[in-house]
Amino acid sequence: MASKVIKGGTVVTADLTYKADVKIEGGKIVEIGPNLSGDETLDATGCYIMPGGIDPHTHLEMPFMGTYSADNFDSGTRAALAGGTTMVVDFALPSPDQSLLEALQMWDNKSSMAHCDYSFHMAITWWGEKVFNEMETIVREKGINTFKHFMAYKGALMVQDDEMYASFKRCAELGAMPMVHAENGDVVADLSAQLLAEGNNGPEAHAYSRPTQVEGEATNRAIMIADMAGVPLYVVHTSCEEAHEAIRRARQAGKRVFGEPLIQHLTLDESEYSNPDWDHAARRVMSPPFRNKAHQDSLWAGLAAGSLQVVATDHCAFTTDQKRFGLGDFTKIPNGTGGLEDRMPMLWTYGVNTGRITMNEFVAVTSTNIAKIMNMYPKKGAMLVGADADLVVWDPEKTKTISAASQQSAIDYNVFEGKTVKGLPRFTLTRGRVALVDGEIKPQQGHGEFVKREPYPAVSKALSTWKELTAPRKVERTGIPATGV
Ligand code: URP
Ligand code: ZN
Ligand code: ZN
Ligand code: ZN
Repeated sequence: MASKVIKGGTVVTADLTYKADVKIEGGKIVEIGPNLSGDETLDATGCYIMPGGIDPHTHLEMPFMGTYSADNFDSGTRAALAGGTTMVVDFALPSPDQSLLEALQMWDNKSSMAHCDYSFHMAITWWGEKVFNEMETIVREKGINTFKHFMAYKGALMVQDDEMYASFKRCAELGAMPMVHAENGDVVADLSAQLLAEGNNGPEAHAYSRPTQVEGEATNRAIMIADMAGVPLYVVHTSCEEAHEAIRRARQAGKRVFGEPLIQHLTLDESEYSNPDWDHAARRVMSPPFRNKAHQDSLWAGLAAGSLQVVATDHCAFTTDQKRFGLGDFTKIPNGTGGLEDRMPMLWTYGVNTGRITMNEFVAVTSTNIAKIMNMYPKKGAMLVGADADLVVWDPEKTKTISAASQQSAIDYNVFEGKTVKGLPRFTLTRGRVALVDGEIKPQQGHGEFVKREPYPAVSKALSTWKELTAPRKVERTGIPATGV
């Protein structure tokens, strides 16, 4: 079996930084140490050798708001590899009344184009006995241990509190973890109608219809429901202090709650929506919307403090033509932005180069924490013998200016257009296969494999044990007054 050695670099993991070579054989790391040799050498002089990025939140070829997101598993995973990301976790999304297994089959078909490994979360978009029953098959047979709930998109994907509570309890039984898109969908629907009635129909009104309170309220509600159901909770695209505060408070109270800021929210702010160019603003319409600098500071602080654990993209890219479905009515602008190719270089540039986070924290929030939270560590997210050789050789001196003209994504613009990044992959390896050399992608459709994720033995045992121990119990009384007196 041919081997490769990455030589001359510095290994950077979530907790260590040291000089070493890394040897790869059969798609796995087989040795880490000084002076290694192999059949092929990759020169890492001046570079950091890190676990490849994992994006825990993407929507590739997603049917949404009357259209499909424009990046599929081909262009989406090419974009990932170009930016040093070696795995994506996408969402299988059943339509109303559709079987979970049928939806999963559709996502299985789409993902056969993937250039890197991938996994799925399952969305709970409706509730019934069939969903309750199929959740077990999804967890025990299909290798999916996370279930997403939309508290927004009323009339489409949104679930009610009773459905969410039922689903969270089912997650608890199965050792799975619920996730939430936390925005109060009822309030958003009301505010949207009011704004439209007042003639406020431009893309900026999308942001007005989703103030930070709708996110803070829903985040807190989901946290409390999860606590009552006895499950851990993963809050996607945490964008503001109110949501962060709820997560922080919950964690301090001993609840297992995770928060996921996006690179877009960390680096782009609400001023984008006041741009006089309709297209410019509409291209940045996503939920939750971009916030002000104070909220951005809160998210950065959360990453450094550990109250927020993960940086994702929620990559859900629509072309300008698709965005124009919402001309004259902001509620019809497809919600979503891209970022797969830019997450790692942007986070390095605005996080590590500015001193907001360390290199080791960078590895933690882009890879290792995600692998642990999603229960696929140390196969993924680890620099350990036996782990998959999903690696990035990171050149901290390499720079580029982000431009749609040179991106892998299929859309015609980039929300980070014109930003200069410093810190880019020299090589990206997916299970030992070199998929990127100095900015040039070496595609291989179908190389990507599905990564099964088992239920959570430790957290779910701890939570169910504690739940049982502290459950309300009938009081056995000695003195009972006679009845009918
Ligand atoms: O606006 C967004 N975030 N679009 C993608 C779907 C979702 O809500 O995650
Ligand atoms: Zn969402
Ligand atoms: Zn513009
Ligand atoms: Zn999403």
